[in-house]
Amino acid sequence: MTSILILNGPNLNLLGTRQPEVYGRTTLADVEALCRAHGDTRGAKVAFMQSNSEGALIDAIHAAKGVHDGIILNAGAYTHTSIALMDAISSVELPVIELHLSNVHAREDFRHVSYIARVALGVICGFGAAGYPLAMDALMGHLAAGS
Ligand code: DQA
Repeated sequence: MTSILILNGPNLNLLGTRQPEVYGRTTLADVEALCRAHGDTRGAKVAFMQSNSEGALIDAIHAAKGVHDGIILNAGAYTHTSIALMDAISSVELPVIELHLSNVHAREDFRHVSYIARVALGVICGFGAAGYPLAMDALMGHLAAGS
């Protein structure tokens, strides 16, 4: 069974109350339930995690090697700053989809830069919580094409 790690970075624990005009009213628990339900319908095992710490996210990426088949990563603001997260992704050689709830390209200039995109399979942004199941489908399609 395909195993997908869904990793969420800083401030995403506040989804639902954090700038709802940008990120919507869906909580992270709602997102997790959506991903688990989607995994059930698609026959995928889902591991779901959030951390505000860059090091914990790096540790989770390292630990994913040999355990999960791919990663969906919403790295939050670390997307725009973290060479360390980029290097972690390159090191484990797992397919990673970069995800954002908001359309980062329609926002401030500093959000147009992504270190993750340089090493990601692809990027999904701007579809709110619905982006998560989209990313799961994209990852599973990629994995199925490669096997
Ligand atoms: C975000 C976009 C980032 O620019 C921001 O720092 C976040 C959330 C998103 O999901 O839209 O924390 O990753």
